[in-house]
Amino acid sequence: MRFDVLTLFPDIFSGYLGQSLLAKALERGLIEVHLHDIRDWSPDKHRKVDDRPYGGGPGMVLRVDCVVPCVEAVQAMADPPGHVVLLTPQGRRLDQAVVEQLARHRRLVLVCGRYEGFDERIRQLLEAEEISLGDFVLNGGEVAAMAVIDAVIRLVPGVLGDEDSSESDSFSAPRRWLECAQYTRPRVYRGLEVPAVLLSGNHEEIARWRYEDSRRRTLQRRPDLLGNEERLEPCPQGDSPRPGHPAPPRGQGEST
Ligand SMILES: C[S@@+](CC[C@H](N)C(=O)[O-])C[C@H]1O[C@@H](n2cnc3c(N)ncnc32)[C@H](O)[C@@H]1O
Repeated sequence: MRFDVLTLFPDIFSGYLGQSLLAKALERGLIEVHLHDIRDWSPDKHRKVDDRPYGGGPGMVLRVDCVVPCVEAVQAMADPPGHVVLLTPQGRRLDQAVVEQLARHRRLVLVCGRYEGFDERIRQLLEAEEISLGDFVLNGGEVAAMAVIDAVIRLVPGVLGDEDSSESDSFSAPRRWLECAQYTRPRVYRGLEVPAVLLSGNHEEIARWRYEDSRRRTLQRRPDLLGNEERLEPCPQGDSPRPGHPAPPRGQGEST
């Protein structure tokens, strides 16, 4: 999968691209990330890309005659032209379902705003999807672009090993519940013990415990993620299992 990031501050990405899963995915050729400095497309001899808002008011606005030619030129650099995403607080809020949709594209062109944001004609001219990280205002779209890349690459085949599979992650399809509690060594720390079932070696019991813990903590913390039936029925019979989170055996109720 290929990502093109259009930004005024390409250097922001250097540390991030050199770390962990992302660096390994780049090294193995599973993903490509290309950075483009929007200033390279400025028609101004001083490489200015912003100007004062018409009608007055604070701050500076990104110019349409810099951003649109930049996006068009970057799209023409490779095939397919890619799905264009404007990072903006006014866009669709990013969640795991949106991440899954974005991951279906072979190429994403991520456009980072700065200052007071984009001239409205940028939105009008580009067939872009607008994505927001949440209901707060960042100084620029770079952190949002990194969040998109970080979340999307987890779904690119081969990026995660089996041991890090994303299938049981919180918010993941098909259930979209929160993940169950996780423990590792030591077995006891400051009097807090790992639940005995996880040490039992009984895979069926462990799967049932994980299913129940996942449902319980989703109910407590994010009841909005549960359907009406899931909220009422402790452990629905015939519920289709998924790896690591199978439904509990028939006839067994929820433990309290
Ligand atoms: C200071 S913000 C501009 C906010 C704009 N004046 C508004 O109120 O909608 C500058 C840039 O940061 C990015 N940005 C800020 N908040 C964001 C968010 N919640 N999600 C994604 N991008 C964001 C966008 O690229 C935006 O163009």
